[in-house]
Order: sequence, then structure tokens, then C-alpha cells
Amino acid sequence: MALANKLAPSILNADLASLSDQLSALEKGGADWVHLDVMDGHFVPNLTFGPILVEAARKHTKLTLDCHLMISNPEKYVADFARAGADSITVHQEATLHLDSLVRVVKALKNKDGRDVKVGVSLNPATPIETLEHVLPELDLVLIMSVNPGFGGQKFIPYALDKARKLRAKAETMGKALDIQMDGGIGPKNVREVIASGVNVIVSGTAIFASGDIAGTCVKMKSLMG
Ligand code: DX5
Ligand code: ZN
Repeated sequence: MALANKLAPSILNADLASLSDQLSALEKGGADWVHLDVMDGHFVPNLTFGPILVEAARKHTKLTLDCHLMISNPEKYVADFARAGADSITVHQEATLHLDSLVRVVKALKNKDGRDVKVGVSLNPATPIETLEHVLPELDLVLIMSVNPGFGGQKFIPYALDKARKLRAKAETMGKALDIQMDGGIGPKNVREVIASGVNVIVSGTAIFASGDIAGTCVKMKSLMG
């Protein structure tokens, strides 16, 4: 089944003091989602923002707000992100002992517009896709990290592509329309290769926000994604 390819720029390295303008530039460039990198300084060695930034973004864009929770004890916070306006919440497989119950909790959440919140699970580079074997039927999305999480601008890890190929094949045998997202070190130079591996949701931060032309780079990425 053909899933639409979607561009989800990460605002981690955006000019957050001009969030509204930055979001307008993403919309102008045809971005599909906004990827919000939530970090707690514990699960990853960086500290970014919480639900308050989701709330601010919600007021300034209609784009899908895709929250990537790189935090420990995500159980404690998923409802706050839903209330703040998240359309999709992705938790890390490595951040919880009880992934099945956490997935079900997120699936039961409604966001502030009363819409169902989509649930995703993210895998650090070294975590095998097989760890999701038993929860895969419940998931809307799997995020395959192509960098070790924590910072933008890192080097792409090529073996992430093997994981994507394997996961897409698995989803197809299940007849499941699974969004497969990849995150970290992706830009115009390698986006085609990432799409060819079976990924259909592209996260890109530095390549877009450090380009000097946010909207233009989104247009370029979208044209390369097909
Ligand atoms: C890393 C984050 C990525 C990152 C984007 O932990 O999850 O979303 O900000 O990566 P770059 O800047 O490499 O596109
Ligand atoms: Zn991310």
C-alpha cells in the first residue's frame, strides 16, 4: 500500500525566539509535519523543551505536531503533551519497562482538539526492530534513529537503512500501513536513499534550518522525496 511521503522538519535548531515566523516558513515550503524534539537531559545528554513549546506552536500552525519524546519516564508526561496539542507522540522503546501499556495509554489519549493522538515508538540506532515485534500491530509509526539522539547536525548512521528495509518488509507482510520515520543526519544529499529504504516520513533539522532558506530547502527536499 502506498503511503504518502511526508517531510517533518525538526525545530530543534530553529530560531525559537521567532517560532511563529519559522513555522510560517515551513508551511510556505510545503512541510507536512513539525517535529518537536523533547529532551530531558537524562535519557539524552541535552535539555530542550516540554509541553509549553507544543502549546505555543499549536497557536501558530495547523501542521501536524509530531512530538519525539527523548525522555525517561515518558508515562508521566504523555497526557500533558496531548493536552498541549500534540497530534502524534513518539516514545523511546529504551525509555520504559512497560512499552505495551504505554502504547495503549497514548492510543487512548485525545488532544486538545478532541482528536485521537497517534502513537509512535522510536528505536536508538543499536536497538533491533525485533524489540517491537509484539506491539507493532498497535503502532501508527516507528521512528528509526539514524543518529544517537541528543543533538542536531550529527553524521548519518548508514545501518539505519537496513533496519528500515527490514521493517518495511515486515509491515508489508502484515498488510499494515505503517509510517516509518527516520531522524538525524538527513538532507538533500541523502534523502533519496532514505526514501528508497522504505522510509516515508523524513525528519530533517540542520539541513533545513542552517540552510539560510528554510522554505526553499523544504521545497527542494519535498521534490527529492517524490
Ligand atoms: C536528534 C533529534 C533529531 C535532530 C535532527 O536527537 O532527534 O531530530 O534534531 O537532526 P539533524 O539536525 O541531523 O537533521
Ligand atoms: Zn527527533
